[in-house]
Amino acid sequence: MYVLRGMRESLSDEDDQGEEMIRIAVFASGRGSNFSALARAQKKGVYKGSLSLLVCDNPKAPVIGKAKRAGVKVVLVKRGDFSSKAEFEQAIFQRLDEEGIGLIVMAGFMRMLSPEFVRRYKNRIINIHPALLPSFKGSHGIKDAFDYGVKVTGVSVHFVDEEMDHGPIILQKEVRVKEDDTVETLEARIHRAEHELYPQAVRLFSEGRLKIEGRKVNISVR
Ligand code: GRF
Repeated sequence: MYVLRGMRESLSDEDDQGEEMIRIAVFASGRGSNFSALARAQKKGVYKGSLSLLVCDNPKAPVIGKAKRAGVKVVLVKRGDFSSKAEFEQAIFQRLDEEGIGLIVMAGFMRMLSPEFVRRYKNRIINIHPALLPSFKGSHGIKDAFDYGVKVTGVSVHFVDEEMDHGPIILQKEVRVKEDDTVETLEARIHRAEHELYPQAVRLFSEGRLKIEGRKVNISVR
């Protein structure tokens, strides 16, 4: 059984109970709507944690501007600048260590992490997938579910392990497919569900309420 707590920093005196605040890195390569949802949720106090770093591998990604506007440090690491994946990841580790990161939140980072990476941050990396896992894994979860003709799809937040879209599931939220949906209208509702669900998963992690037992994540009640 694992009780999950990451590296935290102390909250100021105004914050209650002397709880510690986890430092979070978001890994994203694209639009960044989940990044923005997490930043908004942090402001509203949905979770006690600090978005401390954005790790991005795409210099053109809109998420970079969003992070800068939110005052979050950006680490741009281009795979092409490194001779191996190991060196690329080493550069990321260094920044994560410098920032004392206790939780990595994957939000559309278009690269698989190596098994070494996953082991180093074991049970401290979470991902969001736009379908109800284990169905419709991969990078086209919304369209694949729509084309399959499902009546219900949704969003899954899970721990990252060495296989794609595979680790223990933390939270899921269903999204019904309407008769007149197009893939675009469905996609919009899926993203809204993601923006609600991801901050809740971060909250549970940051409160130390997730316990992994085999494939199951037990959520303790406060
Ligand atoms: C989301 O749909 C997420 O489920 C998937 O990548 C997408 C990222 O979207 N893993 P955004 O960049 O956060 O808008």
